Amino acid sequence: MKSCFVIRWSLLFLLFLPSGFALCLPPGVAAQSAGLEQGKRLFESQCGSCHGPLGNGGRGANLAQPQLRRATDDDALLTIIRRGIPGTEMPGSFLTPSQVSSIATYVKTLGRVEPEEIPGDAGRGEAVYASLDCGVCHTLGGEGGILGPVLDDIGARRSAAHLREALIEPEAYIPRGFLQLRVVTKDGRAITGVRVNEDGFSVQIRDFSGSFRSFWKDELDSLDKMWQRSPMVSYEARLSPGQTDDLVAYLVSLKGAP
Ligand code: HEC
Ligand code: HEC
Repeated sequence: MKSCFVIRWSLLFLLFLPSGFALCLPPGVAAQSAGLEQGKRLFESQCGSCHGPLGNGGRGANLAQPQLRRATDDDALLTIIRRGIPGTEMPGSFLTPSQVSSIATYVKTLGRVEPEEIPGDAGRGEAVYASLDCGVCHTLGGEGGILGPVLDDIGARRSAAHLREALIEPEAYIPRGFLQLRVVTKDGRAITGVRVNEDGFSVQIRDFSGSFRSFWKDELDSLDKMWQRSPMVSYEARLSPGQTDDLVAYLVSLKGAP
């Protein structure tokens, strides 16, 4: 800590006292650790809300692993930080090139930690998954319903803690793009489902039986947007703590195609 303090002051006086700076640490090392400090601070403020302040995941992927799925090398990492990942919740940024590079330097240090210990057994979790109704709404390995998100690579996109929460309290976080709607038609029919598409004149929904329905807005009595609601109900009462651990371990193991 003390040396960091010294480095920061040294940086301030760098222009005037280059030799003093050299006394502190070799310039390369000093510059690198100053970049790392900045990267850490930027990461905590810009990325921590999704990836967790320690980078081990949340709404966003766990970055504290030796090998990242998409950010496979330095170039890919810099591009992702700059532009985000189109079509996913990973946003682009308005950071300067030097900020991007210091964040990247910091992200790379995250991968040097010990991998997270996850209680539970993925093999047993697979059997738990098969014994439940998850497949009614979720596609996995090309099979299942389409009301909920595809789970093929869910373990690469979300942390273990997020997946556990999704099972226990599904409405705690609703992924981008999911909006539950309730419509009542002028002739008195009420249908609840997930929005597929909407424009000024019409709305299309997938109802809870999986059927696709389309309505003209002028044939509706009401259109209710249920922002924080999900058709997925909590599995807390249906799973023992051991089964929950196994199911979470199984979901974490789903990393999608390499
Ligand atoms: C709004 C939430 C959010 C924010 C803010 C965010 N990310 Fe992400 N990030 C995600 C999600 C979700 C993914 C997974 C995308 C996917 O693969 O579907 C992701 C993926 C990534 C990946 C790719 C991981 C891999 O497996 O290769 C990297 C690297 C990354 N984020 C770094 C960052 C950095 C650095 C910042 C801050 C500058 C940041 N993210 C800010 C949500 C976020
Ligand atoms: C009635 C339909 C339905 C059933 C049954 C269902 N889900 Fe879901 N699930 C959804 C919907 C819709 C979402 C997206 C909204 C939300 O987050 O609740 C979701 C979200 C999720 C998420 C979070 C996805 C993300 O990107 O954050 C996970 C993980 C998940 N479900 C796993 C399961 C598992 C495992 C089961 C069985 C134990 C299951 N679901 C049963 C409909 C369902």
